[in-house]
Amino acid sequence: MSFSRDISSPARARHAIPPSGSKPAPASTLVVFGAHGDLTKRLLMPALYNLAGSGLLDPDFRIIGIDRVPGSTAEWRDGLAATMQEFTRDRDAEFYTPSIDAKAWGWVADRLEYVQTDFSDLAQVRALGEKLPGSAVFYLAVPSRFFGSLVATLGQAGLLAEQDGRFRRVVIEKPFGSDLATARALNAQILSVLDERQIYRIDHFLGKETVQNILAMRFGNLIFEPLWRNEYIDHVEITAAETIGVEQRGAFYEPTGALRDMVPNHLFQLFAMVAMEPPASFSADTVRTAKEQLFESVRPVAPEDAVRGQYRAGTVDGKPVAAYRDSPGVAPDSVTETYVALKLHVDNWRWSGVPFYLRTGKSLGGRRTEVVVQFKKPPVAIFRGTATDALPPNRMILNIQPSQGLTIGMAAKHPGPAMDLAEVQVRFRYEDAFDLQPNVGYETLLYDCLSGDATLFQRADNIDAAWAAVDPVLQAWAKSSDSLEFYDAGATGPAGADALLARDGRSWYPLDGV
Ligand code: BG6
Repeated sequence: MSFSRDISSPARARHAIPPSGSKPAPASTLVVFGAHGDLTKRLLMPALYNLAGSGLLDPDFRIIGIDRVPGSTAEWRDGLAATMQEFTRDRDAEFYTPSIDAKAWGWVADRLEYVQTDFSDLAQVRALGEKLPGSAVFYLAVPSRFFGSLVATLGQAGLLAEQDGRFRRVVIEKPFGSDLATARALNAQILSVLDERQIYRIDHFLGKETVQNILAMRFGNLIFEPLWRNEYIDHVEITAAETIGVEQRGAFYEPTGALRDMVPNHLFQLFAMVAMEPPASFSADTVRTAKEQLFESVRPVAPEDAVRGQYRAGTVDGKPVAAYRDSPGVAPDSVTETYVALKLHVDNWRWSGVPFYLRTGKSLGGRRTEVVVQFKKPPVAIFRGTATDALPPNRMILNIQPSQGLTIGMAAKHPGPAMDLAEVQVRFRYEDAFDLQPNVGYETLLYDCLSGDATLFQRADNIDAAWAAVDPVLQAWAKSSDSLEFYDAGATGPAGADALLARDGRSWYPLDGV
């Protein structure tokens, strides 16, 4: 991650991926394991296409696709080109763009090579070495059960050794482990073969502009930081509400559930951006150490501070939705949670006494990812006894998606002779200030990894501390399913989630709020 010095404010400059890198990443070969997978087609290729279009890839950059499926380079390239074209016809696609620029896609297509390989076969993996004389990044876009063994095989094949000035890096997707013990075991396994600085554990939330913007807002402006503490903040809510259900991912989701799928990774990254201490620089280790200090201050979540729910049949966006238990790949008596809410206590000087409430769920009534920072009420008596006394306190809402920007709710005088106050909203919308280009959020992450900047990636201790925080809940839930509640698809979640806040005299910011 780099911060450009371009302060020529709302100049509507056209940056595909503002404001990261301005020069091409050093030459290397990107070796994608899982070449035929969804991630490669839907996210990696559009990201590479965008990077190529922005001139951020070296002319000697190459992409080798690895999969077990027989096929030629031409077939792989044609299939990817067809998927790119599909994006132009699907406004709901993660990468919707009205047209594909032939030059930028041609640049990528010319550098593609498909090598059919069984990556559990040491001899076949070793043979790849002949195609990799220089620097290489191995991208493990494969199911998580293969992460450890694949890294071990790459090591045995001698492909991870850095020598003669070449670098060798490994990108590991989520889920990174399924609990504290498995995450620790996986870290131990890969760290026996790789150095920490060669490992890029990805969390795609960190590729979102709006997530990185939280740091820009907090540390690029003087006006927020003095208020950013328990003296002024009442509580913080972090929400990732989805309208989509489990769809065709039942086989993945059944053993995973909402907590493992979203909390120690995505929601903890949002939490870190909001709550970590100001790092002294944006260097990878400084930022990741600041996160670590925060995560270690989180009190392990008590099971009574966690709520889980599963959706029944209902209606979302006017369309009928089948119950989770009736989804493909899901057991009819499944107790997997599709919703989780929990309360975090942070035992440090800044946040002591300020609860952080996290919630995420599928098949909910609204789609929004946001952080709501609710301030305390002003300590003044002058409006007491008037209608204005009922005004809500200030709230700062960091809108991550689909709305992107920042909203501040504040009181203003209503026009007229009386001193009446009304709540008004001050808004910053990304699309108003900048000319946004279609992107999938992997652009910055890929560029940073190719350039050797691990700031936006997870270090082993960050992963460990996040799992440690939620481990008591996972253990309690594994023992008994008694606390599982049900909610109708299209609702805001189970009743217990409201009770979690009501217990503290609070309520969630509405899912249909601004
Ligand atoms: C993924 C989860 O990591 O993140 C999905 O596995 C979830 O279940 C997704 O839907 C949310 O990401 P985004 O970018 O769509 O908010």
